[in-house]
Amino acid sequence: MSKRPRPWIEAFAPATISNLGPGFDCLGLAIRGAGDRVRVRRQDAPGVVIRAITGDRGRLPTDPEENTASAVLLEMIRRFAPGAGLELELDKGLPLGSGLGSSGASACAALVAGDAALGLGLGHTQLVDLAREGERLACGTAHPDNVAPSIVGGVVLIPNLEPLRLISLPSPKDMWIAVYTPGCEVATADARRVLPREVPLGATVRQAARLGLLVHALHQGDLTLVGEAIVDELVEPARAHLIPGFAEAKAAAQEAGAIACSISGAGPTTFALAGSEERATALLDILDEAFANHGVAGKGWVDQVGPGARVTSSLLH
Ligand code: HSE
Repeated sequence: MSKRPRPWIEAFAPATISNLGPGFDCLGLAIRGAGDRVRVRRQDAPGVVIRAITGDRGRLPTDPEENTASAVLLEMIRRFAPGAGLELELDKGLPLGSGLGSSGASACAALVAGDAALGLGLGHTQLVDLAREGERLACGTAHPDNVAPSIVGGVVLIPNLEPLRLISLPSPKDMWIAVYTPGCEVATADARRVLPREVPLGATVRQAARLGLLVHALHQGDLTLVGEAIVDELVEPARAHLIPGFAEAKAAAQEAGAIACSISGAGPTTFALAGSEERATALLDILDEAFANHGVAGKGWVDQVGPGARVTSSLLH
């Protein structure tokens, strides 16, 4: 009797903008227009095999222990389905080292596809907890602020790690985001190495106050107040020099009326907020010009807050 072929299950996980000014390592949002895709199917042999990776120009590791997508599946199997086997294909839509939560999106897409393939029915908190292990592998710290919004969607605050707690926050409907990835890379580990080990009390108090203000502003749907709150005195100043042209791009965006402008995650992607698609498009041109003037022209688009990782299809091929 011939065995019925098992279906490939495909999942998509979105890119994310984390930190959002004062929310270093504890706040992030999912965007609609970019992300990674992973296809997973069960195999008889235990463990995880990577069958194909596309879109990475051959740069990502194919050893299942080393790749964030497969490593988190190995952890999923270890915790929830001992002895199970999966094969996977990864299609990178996101550039590496971009500050858009690229390694996290691969892990989240893999977990959502793996969860469906194994019929586990895990909840968001369990999936985010697994996805954090991919971040630990990618950069040495299991920060949750990319993988939480990539799994859950929308804006997510992570007030606690042990136990992991995820709080979904609303966002203003009229919030448009100019997202610009300059033509350079910043490794998250490097961007974390430049951070101060100790921070002044006054600046820490002001940062905490702005994080509170940001949560309030999001609940109010008040975009102007959101902009007031997205100011980062602790992390952005320590990292700005890693991104050629960032200071000038930010100044130009602010001059042109950006509601806020800051580094996305560890950078170099820079985001600017506006109250309409037209204004966000104008900000994109301004960011493009500033980064091009510094020899790091890249790619940008206008986006909005979007949904989290989801199964997109189940295919026999
Ligand atoms: N919160 C992390 C950081 C995000 O800024 O280092 C890294 O993608």
